[in-house]
Amino acid sequence: MAITTQQLIRLKQQGKAIAAVTAWDYLLASLLDQAGVDLILVGDSLAMVALGYDTTLPLTLDEILHHAKAVRRGVKQALVVVDLPFMSYQESPEQAIRAAGRALKEAGAQAVKLEGGYPAMVATVARLVQAGIPVLGHVGLTPQSVHQFGGYRKQGTSPEASDRIVEEAIALEQAGVFGIILEHIPSELGLRISQKLTIPTIGIGAGPHCDGQVLVTADLLGLSDWQPPFAKSYVNLRETVTQAVQTYCTEVREHKFP
Ligand code: KIV
Repeated sequence: MAITTQQLIRLKQQGKAIAAVTAWDYLLASLLDQAGVDLILVGDSLAMVALGYDTTLPLTLDEILHHAKAVRRGVKQALVVVDLPFMSYQESPEQAIRAAGRALKEAGAQAVKLEGGYPAMVATVARLVQAGIPVLGHVGLTPQSVHQFGGYRKQGTSPEASDRIVEEAIALEQAGVFGIILEHIPSELGLRISQKLTIPTIGIGAGPHCDGQVLVTADLLGLSDWQPPFAKSYVNLRETVTQAVQTYCTEVREHKFP
C-alpha cells in the first residue's frame, strides 16, 4: 500500500521514525522506493546536484516538473513530494495554487513543499490546504533565502531567533501542513519543535530528536563534490564510479573489452 500523509502522522504517534530522501530521476527514484524509504522529495537541490547550478534560485517550475514526472514513474510505495522552486509561489497564494496544481496534475505529486513561515507563507499554506493540496513546510535554513541569510548558516542560534522558528512551525501546523522540514538548526531546537507539534518534523541538520530525517541522496551516496557538515555518506559512489569508468577506459584502449 502506498504511503499517505496520514500514515506519516501516524508514524509520529507510534514513535516510529520517518526515512526521507531526495530524488531527481526515474532510475534513482525506483531504487530508493524499492529500498523502502517513506518519502521521496523531488527537492529543488536538484538544481545543484542534477543541473549544475550554484544555488537553487535559477531552477524553474518547468524544470522541476520535468524531473518530478520521471521520479513519479519510478515510485510505487513512497509519498512523492515536489518542491516549489524560488519565485513560483512567493508572489501570492494564487500563484502558489497554480504552481502546486501543476505539480499534482502534471507530475502526479502527492504533496508539495514550500519554504518559509510567518506570516506570508502561513496564509499561502492555508489556501493550498483549502484547495485540497497537502503541503510540507520547511523552516530554519531555507536555501531559497541564501542571500538574505548571507550564506548557508545555521539558523535559530539566539533565543529570539529560535523562538521565532518555533512560532513559525506552530503557525504552519495551524495552517494545515502535514509535516515540516527543519533544516540546520540546533538540536535542542529540533527537540523543542518536535515536542510542541503533533505533525511530524523531518530534520536535516536538526539533531536526532526529530520525528524523521531527510538526506539529499547525492550526499547519502557520496556522489556530491561538496556536502554540508551535517550530511552523512553511507557509500563513496564518487570513488566507485570514477574507478569503474577508468577501468573501462583502460580496457577499451588496451583492446581488452569487449
Ligand atoms: O531540496 C532539497 O533537497 C531540500 C532538502 C534540504 C530537504 O529541500
